[in-house]
Amino acid sequence: MLFLHNCIALFAACQALYLPNSWRHSIPHPGLLIKVGSQNLDELNFEDWISEQSDRSFSYILENIGGISSVLDRKQVLPGVVIASPLKVDPDYFYTWTRDSALTVRTLIYHMNDYFRDDALVARLRKVVEDYIEVNYKIQRLPNQSGRFEDERRSGLGEPKFLTTAKSFDENWGRPQSDGPGLRVSTILGYLFFLERNDLQIENDFLGNTTFIYYHIIKPDLEYIVANWNEKLFDLWEEVNSHHFFTSLTQLKALQDGQRFARTNVIDMKFAEQLQTTYDLLKDFITSSGGFTKPSIPYVIEIPELHEQGTRSGLDAATFLAALHAHNLEFGGTDNIPFDVDDSHILNTITAMVADMRQRYPINHNKARWQNNVGVALGRYPEDVYDGQGTSLGNPWFISTLSASEILFKWIYKNTRRNADIVIDKLNIAFFRPHDAQLNDEAPISDSKIVIPYKSERYHALLTSIYKYADSFIASVQGHVHRTDGTMLEQFDRWTGYMRGAKLLTWLYLAFHNCARWRSKAADEIEWIRN
Ligand code: NOJ
Ligand code: NOJ
Repeated sequence: MLFLHNCIALFAACQALYLPNSWRHSIPHPGLLIKVGSQNLDELNFEDWISEQSDRSFSYILENIGGISSVLDRKQVLPGVVIASPLKVDPDYFYTWTRDSALTVRTLIYHMNDYFRDDALVARLRKVVEDYIEVNYKIQRLPNQSGRFEDERRSGLGEPKFLTTAKSFDENWGRPQSDGPGLRVSTILGYLFFLERNDLQIENDFLGNTTFIYYHIIKPDLEYIVANWNEKLFDLWEEVNSHHFFTSLTQLKALQDGQRFARTNVIDMKFAEQLQTTYDLLKDFITSSGGFTKPSIPYVIEIPELHEQGTRSGLDAATFLAALHAHNLEFGGTDNIPFDVDDSHILNTITAMVADMRQRYPINHNKARWQNNVGVALGRYPEDVYDGQGTSLGNPWFISTLSASEILFKWIYKNTRRNADIVIDKLNIAFFRPHDAQLNDEAPISDSKIVIPYKSERYHALLTSIYKYADSFIASVQGHVHRTDGTMLEQFDRWTGYMRGAKLLTWLYLAFHNCARWRSKAADEIEWIRN
């Protein structure tokens, strides 16, 4: 009897282990702003699932912003405040982070840009964006543990997170973090660019006009970058005080955006020159003196100091997140920022991360994922030990995996838009090899280049393979998303695949939404993929 009992218990335990994560973590979202279909997500085919999950993600994003959310109390979360997550336990992420908020709001701007003819949608989203800009005016000026707004170096702007009532957060944290101001600059300037392109004016009474926004919100953030770009500070993962690729590249983008605006819109020439000088210094730091690349390493090194010390490989999803968030093809940017999605070091980062994490995470030890042209679930960086609550072993993250996919879709889009051949050389051949059988015969190459002619059969086949590769990353997260409501948690367990860590993070939804957005833009370029 006892034996039988044990067998049943064992059977139940095994089943529990292999059940989809969604059975374990049923955390229906507190409410939904936009009614989404009632169909269970796991009944949908891949295409339909992506589109449904993307719509749901967009509503989850809006539910996490004060003012527009149908569930957040306006007194607890001020209008325009983006919360990292509505949940206050395990861990408590009911705060607003400058980084997360900037990335969230630019997702709304991309969406407006795509649907600019939908007046009702644009009006609703514009209100959210302008509330965000207004509340950031207030947040910028809060004295906090990182410093003060008024001081010469604008040190208070390095504070990473605040209470949702726009008050300072005074407990211990990995601070200052220096990526926030630059991300906010590019987001707000993206909005001002959107207004200009569509011949629209600021509607928010407090903000008044773009000149006010420039002098009182954008310029102080740029001054922060000018004063602090070379300081060692904390990174986007809030763990290491050093120089970071993600921070530097996104700052560079802000300097470029800021400089252009200062020169052509507000005619703040003296400051524009200062921005140009800092831009030149920072660009040199990123491309050479900062040590982010090394002749012997094919990928970008996120934290050179730790790589030098031998404690980190340098591989980190933060580097391709930087490629995504420091370039945009939509806001009229003449993008001469290095390390875009077609940069060989960025592409090699994905190849190297896949090679590492295919081994590292048991959930990737699946026959279907053994081939080199198939993506796997990716974590933040190989040496990660943060498990979502404490430290043990790191796990795959939705943000990392979906962002790798987004890079590939953007690569397809950028390449096809150039109407040009694909040129393969010794720097990028490792990335392309799994997607083109002929490359195995032609390689190794020394200084020669292999040209795949634009629109040739081989060109089509290569793009098709990369599109499928991008899809396989999305497929690798599909089974881990909540099967009925599409909610997500920060991580999914490396052994079981069950979700773990911070729940309902806004960032997860924008990672999904942006990935799906570039997927459909890529598919528009290579229409044959839809047949
Ligand atoms: C919370 C941070 O947000 C996360 O990125 C970090 O890894 C953990 N704390 C551990 O420090
Ligand atoms: C943890 C991430 O490491 C960090 O980048 C993010 O800002 C916070 N979570 C809040 O979402």
